[in-house]
Amino acid sequence: DAPGMPDRFGRFARDLRVSVTDRCNLRCRYCMPAEGLPWLAKPEMLSDDELVRVVGVFVGLGVTQIRLTGGEPLLRRSLVDVVRRIAALEPRPRIAMTTNGIGLDRLAQPLADAGLDRVNVSLDTIDPKEFASLTRRDRLHDVEAGLKAAAAAGLAPVKVNAVAMRGINDDTVADLLQWCLDRGYELRFIEQMPLDAQHGWDASTMISAGEIQERLGDRFHLTPLPAADRGSAPAERFLVDGGPQTVGIIASVTAPFCAACDRTRLTADGQVRNCLFSQAETDLREPLRAGASDEELADLIRGEMWRKAKGHGIGTADFVQPDRPMSAIGG
Ligand code: GTP
Ligand code: 5AD
Ligand code: SF4
Repeated sequence: DAPGMPDRFGRFARDLRVSVTDRCNLRCRYCMPAEGLPWLAKPEMLSDDELVRVVGVFVGLGVTQIRLTGGEPLLRRSLVDVVRRIAALEPRPRIAMTTNGIGLDRLAQPLADAGLDRVNVSLDTIDPKEFASLTRRDRLHDVEAGLKAAAAAGLAPVKVNAVAMRGINDDTVADLLQWCLDRGYELRFIEQMPLDAQHGWDASTMISAGEIQERLGDRFHLTPLPAADRGSAPAERFLVDGGPQTVGIIASVTAPFCAACDRTRLTADGQVRNCLFSQAETDLREPLRAGASDEELADLIRGEMWRKAKGHGIGTADFVQPDRPMSAIGG
């Protein structure tokens, strides 16, 4: 594999997360207010041609994995075509997607045919009341159907991402694990991060990785997998009841993986971000529309990576939550 793009701390960006839309059909409490957000207007967003061209420049810089995110990526009408065009780039990157699963029942097979390799589906609870309370929409069945279709289309391994919120879905984490084990989905719990549009995150109410481990420990025996096998993956994984199935915990706040981070991001409006939590971004859209060459775009991207900070600093006195919420950055 190509080495990817270096930064000042010896890390290499090999994984590009592309937000294809900032819109969403859910309103998860850890992400958005009930009324939604002021969405980007179409002319502000990269067109398919622009998006595929920029992704091609990243691939030329050594990025080997593209992850499509949102908002909710399935809401971009041209998504299947975008996947087909990314899969035609040389060298072909691996293509993954992080989705809330709504609409995947129809789209999983066309996306797989177009070149999508795997999916991570966000599902925080299998209790219908808790789901409706957390996402403010009654769409649990759509997500279940989406997961089934993803597995049937061979988008393996199908991973499930869950964020636990105190007093909402923290009492059913073991039920969610059992449900995923029964269906062969790889579940990962994620610590809630300060990226909600409402700026309502609070360290004291966040369910920590340690607490998740304790709650799962009441019903399952968890054995940590060797840290050496983890590489740049954000999740610490555990064998469940001796294995072979596993559960992961992404301790983004209490045990950040910044030192091994290999990611970079492109927003739907064409900004490059070197970190989820960065305060600045590099605009590619205006240069693109003013006729910049691929080499000029590549220089801008390399410059952004060179400015990447050592870590996110959540919990330190200097930490400031970024203006852009998670749904407009791409999770
Ligand atoms: P896999 O390659 O399947 O392991 O994907 P992933 O875990 O990188 O992707 P996914 O989109 O499923 O992200 C899961 C969670 O990891 C996100 O919700 C974030 O909470 C966290 N995460 C992803 N990227 C970053 C990052 O750059 N920094 C931090 N701190 N957390 C991240
Ligand atoms: N903290 C942690 N994870 C979050 N996600 C969305 N908002 C947050 C947050 N504030 C998750 C989604 C999805 C992934 C991309 O990020 O549930 O699984
Ligand atoms: Fe939508 Fe994902 Fe935000 Fe939930 S977390 S509202 S699914 S973008």
